[in-house]
Amino acid sequence: MTEQNGLDALATESRRFEPPTEVAKSANVTADAYDDAWADRLGFWETQARRLQWDKEWHTALEWEPPFAKWFVGGQLNVAANCVDRHVEAGKGDRVALYWEGEPEGDRRVITYAQLHAEVCKAANALTELGVDAGNRVMIYLPMIPEAVIAMLACARIGAPHSVVFGGFSAQALVDRITDAEARFVITSDGGYRRGAAAALKPAVDEAVERSGIVEKVLVVRRTGQDVAWTDRDVWWHDVVGRQSDVHHPQSFDAEHPLFLLYTSGTTGKPKGILHTSGGYLTQAAWTHWAVFDLKPETDVYWCTADIGWVTGHSYVTYGPLANGATQVMYEGTPDAGGKDRWWSIVERYKVSLLYTAPTAIRTFMKWGEELPAKHDMSSLRILGSVGEPINPEAWIWYRRVIGGDRCPIVDTWWQTETGAMMIAPLPGVTSCKPGSAMGPLPGIEVDVVNGEGESVGEVGGGYLTLNEPWPSMLRGIWGDEERYRETYWSKFPGRYFAGDGAKWDEEHVLWLLGRVDDVMNVSGHRISTTEVESALVSHPSVAEAAVVGAYDATTGQAIVAFVTPKGHVADDVSSGEAFAQELRNHVAKEIGPIAKPRQILITPELPKTRSGKIMRRLLRDVAEHRELGDVTTLADPSVVNAINEKMGTAGDGTED
Ligand code: PRX
Repeated sequence: MTEQNGLDALATESRRFEPPTEVAKSANVTADAYDDAWADRLGFWETQARRLQWDKEWHTALEWEPPFAKWFVGGQLNVAANCVDRHVEAGKGDRVALYWEGEPEGDRRVITYAQLHAEVCKAANALTELGVDAGNRVMIYLPMIPEAVIAMLACARIGAPHSVVFGGFSAQALVDRITDAEARFVITSDGGYRRGAAAALKPAVDEAVERSGIVEKVLVVRRTGQDVAWTDRDVWWHDVVGRQSDVHHPQSFDAEHPLFLLYTSGTTGKPKGILHTSGGYLTQAAWTHWAVFDLKPETDVYWCTADIGWVTGHSYVTYGPLANGATQVMYEGTPDAGGKDRWWSIVERYKVSLLYTAPTAIRTFMKWGEELPAKHDMSSLRILGSVGEPINPEAWIWYRRVIGGDRCPIVDTWWQTETGAMMIAPLPGVTSCKPGSAMGPLPGIEVDVVNGEGESVGEVGGGYLTLNEPWPSMLRGIWGDEERYRETYWSKFPGRYFAGDGAKWDEEHVLWLLGRVDDVMNVSGHRISTTEVESALVSHPSVAEAAVVGAYDATTGQAIVAFVTPKGHVADDVSSGEAFAQELRNHVAKEIGPIAKPRQILITPELPKTRSGKIMRRLLRDVAEHRELGDVTTLADPSVVNAINEKMGTAGDGTED
């Protein structure tokens, strides 16, 4: 459990920030919601489901055969029609859906709901022409351009589950996902703009398609105009989508029809395809977005900075906001493109009122200095959100003061790829917030903190975070691996969903999230498993063994630290050099993606092991975080740790990447 960044001290945090009167007075959701949900949890979720447009009403709210849930059974709807058509039909076609801002300065598109509708219909017709049927999986590997949202909605419209892969993942990661999902279709682009340059995407797809051998068609958006290799499989988006009719009649699908797969890291080397379905997912994504951001669709401008490659981009860029008819900003590039105040110029230009971002970004802006946001008029901001990792009180206070002008409530939202939507968060018009805490479960959600034996710690105390009732947007399984689903989430504490996080109720029964307790790291809000990085390292021909740990990092939350034992044939002067460490870092980037590059690689002739041969990761974590060493008596050779420790003291930390 990461307690390095003063999380222990959090339990004594006594500052409170009340909801501003203005927000409380007109809040979409009041304290009654907690009572309503408490009195009738299923009835509460049925009420939220009715915020959507159903083609056929469900007959049963929940069928629960642990650990398998079905929500709104018998109900039918079309997710894309809920996100687009119904707003147009309600006369809101002229409302802006997307204010898109490309990375190159001045590169902008404004897309209304009517235009989005036409584009989604054309893309749906195109996919059908290419042979995509309901049930076929479609991989999406795109930068943050409107076509990413259009592609997701087009897939949803025809009932073809999409699987979006973050553009920063490697060809190898793409092969693994294409193969596991058995995807015969890929949507990509020539490239995207990143840090002032056109970064290619298609070569990774070409390699992955070649190696997987099962892809039939690749639909390619022209974004940068850079040269691309071309085969018979490839078709241009502007050719095929461009010539389609903008009329498409959406078919109704069952509430439990698969909507998407999203791969995320688990505690083994193999990423798992988290499966989400339609009716329950959309209900909770839409309701939480409306409730936690207090969305007023007529006047608010919302901006979530997450990439669509992550679950936040699914639930709070594409599905939740569009189901609610929101107007939102979408930005392609990095926060420092065109100046380190790029984000704040976007807030000013579009009069953003609701901003949703990650603590890592906030801590980076803290480093860059408050004079940058101060250059811009950000008085439009109303509510600020945080997601992805624990937000330390210092960052929370800075976010509130510098970005929110001391007037905007902060909603710290805890959830996961698996939960599909927010689970633990304050309500901005109701909750009196403590800096750094996500406060407590949302209405309709039941959490319990338990000890190692699975017993509730009660009103006050720390332990493992569990969810003890099913919720509408919960994962329905791991693609193709029912056993892993049971084992990963439901076996540690039978009858409860185990989230993998530590948590603590303080003296006032306020909930503090304490980070992962398993072998999953959280680097800049991105989930990466230690085993995945270890497998990548040992696939290098010169590596005999590797152990990876997540160590505290002031900006990224955690950073990846790797301990590597080279093979015998590698000469000492080669393996001890920085060039070797750099080669290994690049190798990991090639195997997984640049986000998984270790910050620091320590070459060591041996790894500390127990007498039974298990690598002692806990010890390595202590070494990586420069802590007093824990118990080393079970170690086969205690001198190994001393040797590593000495090296650690002299090694550079490789943060130049
Ligand atoms: O450890 C928790 C952390 O991120 C994990 C989920 O990662 P992922 O599935 O990639 O989804 C991230 C976006 C929802 C959790 O197990 N986490 C997420 N939000 C918070 C958080 N930790 C503390 N506070 C949060 N608000």
